[in-house]
Amino acid sequence: MSSPSVATRPRLTVIGTGYLGATHAVCMAELGFEVLGLDVDRSKVDRLNNGEVPFFEPGLPELLQKNLDSGRLRFTTSYAEVGAFGDVHFLCVGTPQKKGEMAADMVYVDAAFTALLPHLRDGALVAGKSTVPAGTAERLAAQLERDATAVGVELTWNPEFLREGFAVEDTLTPDRLVFGVRSEQAEAKLRAAFAPVIDLPTPVVVTDFATAQLVKVAANAFLATKISFINAMAEVCEAVGGDVTLLSKALSYDSRIGGRFLHAGLGFGGGCLPKDIRAFMARAGELGVDQALSFLKEVDAINLRRRTRMVELAREVAGGSFGGMKVAVLGAAFKPNSDDIRDSPALDVAATIQRQGAAVCVYDPAAMENAKVQHPELGYRSSAVEAARGADLVLHLTEWSEFREMDPATLSEVVAGRNILDGRNALDPVAWRQAGWTYRALGRP
Ligand code: UDX
Repeated sequence: MSSPSVATRPRLTVIGTGYLGATHAVCMAELGFEVLGLDVDRSKVDRLNNGEVPFFEPGLPELLQKNLDSGRLRFTTSYAEVGAFGDVHFLCVGTPQKKGEMAADMVYVDAAFTALLPHLRDGALVAGKSTVPAGTAERLAAQLERDATAVGVELTWNPEFLREGFAVEDTLTPDRLVFGVRSEQAEAKLRAAFAPVIDLPTPVVVTDFATAQLVKVAANAFLATKISFINAMAEVCEAVGGDVTLLSKALSYDSRIGGRFLHAGLGFGGGCLPKDIRAFMARAGELGVDQALSFLKEVDAINLRRRTRMVELAREVAGGSFGGMKVAVLGAAFKPNSDDIRDSPALDVAATIQRQGAAVCVYDPAAMENAKVQHPELGYRSSAVEAARGADLVLHLTEWSEFREMDPATLSEVVAGRNILDGRNALDPVAWRQAGWTYRALGRP
């Protein structure tokens, strides 16, 4: 039987407790819902139940503890428990890029969905949040219809747009909610599950399955395109002696263009933008509309060229070769306020430079442990100053505020050569040059 509380305050479950799922579980509990999170990784579940967030996300540890204490939030590894508990189940597992292919790997989505199905209660709603290729929701809905034993169960698609580093804010006060539904009942259940957010107010766009799935990849494709556009302009600036930071500033005053995601530098990385545009192209190919997205190939290529250019610029400043050079790399995370190193431009550049003969020392405020696992060949130091000690070149590759606020005079005392390369166009060239440094950046003189 469906719970009588569904119309007012449904009980929620969150399947998968990565960056997306853990944040969603904690924030929904913060909004007053009873929430049960599930992960197949027992150690993650134990850590979360003990108040420990297994990754870096500002504000999340405090909210996790608060909501564990309130009794509204806990975590389990049992699908049976999740099925018995939940009125609405949010599917939040990852869809990484398949090895050696552009397409997204659906093994986690399929495994989680298949494991959940036999445990669903009558009237339960499954809301997919993972970023998936168009057509996935339709396929899963057919599976649900065929295999679920409970009655009145339904699937919806409810994409998530959170940014790492701002995940709590983006979940509690999103720009919009997208509900891909096939029935009024499903929409009503989702509206109940988001009632406090809808009341803020937050716009809700109700769509079919196909559109809901597309909104997410279209949003990421647009953002990636915007970043690659300004990075393409940076390439042109380099050729004509222009300054892309001023170009971007001037463009940003045109409200049709806007200044956000117009920051030129080392380009985009992370667990979403790169793999989502590739998976989008792969899916478009299957659907016979690859031409429509062929521009994304160029977006990807421009993005990757920034990394190559950064290595070239460093080699040029090093005098033509990295042999015997000591290079400090500031930043390992794919962006500041995150410990995520998936497809990190900073680590990519660091590893390439080390392969080309330099001794590279890395420092990052949050991503050191993750970086050491993926790149054990690089050197790691406990601070920016330690990484820079004895360095011939200092590369600023992830724009943490502690790097932006760094005093050039402090680093001057420890380096072997005063050469700073700003891969994020975030340092003040005047201050560094006045302190006697050679300042070089992408897309500006
Ligand atoms: C992104 C989307 O923003 C989010 O809506 C979606 O849900 C998941 O993917 P995220 O991967 O957390 O979020 O990072 P985001 O803040 O979008 O940055 C992505 C990358 O682009 C980072 O490497 C960042 O350094 C880079 N970037 C961003 C730029 O190079 N220039 C910019 O102007 C903005």
